Amino acid sequence: MGRPMLPRGFLGTRADLLMDVVFISTLATPFILGWGIRFAAGKDFRRHRAVQTTLLCVLLVAVVLFEVDVRLSGGSGSLMKGSSYAGTGWLRGVTLAHVLANVVTFLAWLVLVVKAWRRFGRELPGPYAPTHRRLGRFVFGGTVFGAVSAVVMYVLGFVL
Ligand code: HEM
Repeated sequence: MGRPMLPRGFLGTRADLLMDVVFISTLATPFILGWGIRFAAGKDFRRHRAVQTTLLCVLLVAVVLFEVDVRLSGGSGSLMKGSSYAGTGWLRGVTLAHVLANVVTFLAWLVLVVKAWRRFGRELPGPYAPTHRRLGRFVFGGTVFGAVSAVVMYVLGFVL
């Protein structure tokens, strides 16, 4: 436990390779979601569905791999122990906010995609659209928060 399980990442910080891949994916997620939402706005609903569903599946795999990596490395505290912020309330607070927000966003995302698939072609587009839009914007907002909090965490945990 506590030993690095993977090679160093490509960003030149203390983070390992998977951490860097997940970090960059986290930053890219709101942009990819926004790109997918534009297909819905342009009435290309099948492409919208394909982009949003594919992204969810890719993230599902990434999150599981990431969680395994963090656990095998001895937990987030042990991964970030090289930081000068290790053990501080700052790093703990940001980590907690980041994890909680991401769990909520991810669950909402799952519900959003499952419900949208069930209603597609019947009530969506149609009477379900306003609810779908609201939930979609909530998930989008969650991924923006996830990305911003990831930058703070990454800098505190692996750079400083
Ligand atoms: C993370 C997943 C998703 C997000 C964030 C999301 C978000 C959105 C947003 C914000 C809109 C409104 C776009 C606009 O009019 O400007 C929209 C529309 C729509 N979405 Fe999604 N969506 C997601 C997944 C899906 C899935 C999986 C399906 C189909 C199975 C779907 C089907 C639709 C349809 C048909 C519309 C058009 C509704 C209408 O204006 O009548 N969406 N989506």
